[in-house]
Amino acid sequence: MLKTISFNVTPGGTLHGQFRVSGDKSISHRAIILGSIAEGITQISGFLEAEDTLATLNAFRSMGVAIDGPDEGSVTIQGVGLNGLSRPGQALDLGNSGTSMRLLSGLLVGQEFDSVLIGDQSLSQRPMQRIISPLKRMGASIAPSSQGTAPLCIQGGHVLEGVSYEMPVASAQVKSCLLLAGIYAKGKTCITEPVRTRNHTETMLKGFSYPVQVVDRRICINPGEALTATEIDIPGDISAAAFFLVGAIITPGSRLEINHVGMNPTRIGILSILRLMGAEIEIKNETVVGGEPVADLCVGFSQLRGIEIPQDLVPLAIDEFPIVFIAAACAEGETCLKGAAELKVKESDRIQVMANGLNQLGIKAIPEADGILIEGGQLSGGNVDASGDHRVAMAFSIAGLRAKNPIVISNCENVNTSFPNFIEISSQLGLAISVKGGVR
Ligand code: S3P
Repeated sequence: MLKTISFNVTPGGTLHGQFRVSGDKSISHRAIILGSIAEGITQISGFLEAEDTLATLNAFRSMGVAIDGPDEGSVTIQGVGLNGLSRPGQALDLGNSGTSMRLLSGLLVGQEFDSVLIGDQSLSQRPMQRIISPLKRMGASIAPSSQGTAPLCIQGGHVLEGVSYEMPVASAQVKSCLLLAGIYAKGKTCITEPVRTRNHTETMLKGFSYPVQVVDRRICINPGEALTATEIDIPGDISAAAFFLVGAIITPGSRLEINHVGMNPTRIGILSILRLMGAEIEIKNETVVGGEPVADLCVGFSQLRGIEIPQDLVPLAIDEFPIVFIAAACAEGETCLKGAAELKVKESDRIQVMANGLNQLGIKAIPEADGILIEGGQLSGGNVDASGDHRVAMAFSIAGLRAKNPIVISNCENVNTSFPNFIEISSQLGLAISVKGGVR
């Protein structure tokens, strides 16, 4: 039996308030992974308690790591050192989480034991060759299904060799996978990215006193050093904040202040895109916490205009396009995105699913091979399918602020993978949203 959840949004309203979003998802995954293989006790605060990050946490528990929490964002990990993980008693179920599957693959190919990684229907369709082929080149034994997807069967005990690898796709998950494998290889591993992607793995490795050399887009790591346990304060997730930033920007009369938001330069493409569209975003109290920049963001309504989104911003805003498309629907004129074929292999085909939903709401949106064309207009109302994609569900919820009639969004259950208190926070801020749950 599967749960199905719909969101019903009553049109109108404004967003008001000062608040903090929950911890960054990417950083939360990495804190569990590196804390587990470090020596000593790692203390985490601000951990995101969502299905994806809990999948990573539970995977390490199944490999014998003692982890206390999460308790209001606080997690304590008794690190087992580089070679202290034990064979899991069963397949590691990573649910909807691509980050868990790709990063864990890199770590697990370097272990002495065998493992199997499984995921839900969406994760089992996502491309894994992008990690399998470089890992095999390092000497790993990792076998996917006949489709090249999960389940992934990993045979441990293989000697890995360091590689020099030019990544064909811009993917922080692939980079991080190979860095983790590189820790267990013989010799140096160097990875060159086609363009810069989020650098939380490199930053956090340094925080655990593990040397990493970064020169432009080339990242090198030597194997076998020990990670030293540390304290990690995880900043708020800019990918979660993005929904409310756009909500306030598209809605006359709104005013929001979002505190302690992660402002890593590899993640703030959303701010650049919104500013190019004409948004005014004030950045206050900039500081650095554990190597990660954070700040408070203040926004209100701005009349947006359509733009051609610069392609170099795509990897820096890769998770924010569903909500960028809602901003585009509320802008004057046409917005054009190209060079974003990666959006087709996220938790859903985000180009097609967003175009379908926008069309349902009376907006002209034309999907293209590597992007989309959206003409700003009046959002009507109606039924939209989130296709099990958390970010699509949240983006269409925010669209309700500017819609003429109610919007009903189906297949929203996966909002829990990244943002379990989305409904609570949105309601507190002024979005008229309710949840209908069912079973099919
Ligand atoms: C992530 C990297 C991105 C992003 C995902 C999280 C990470 O994926 O879409 O939500 O934590 O490394 P790609 O690196 O595959 O683009």
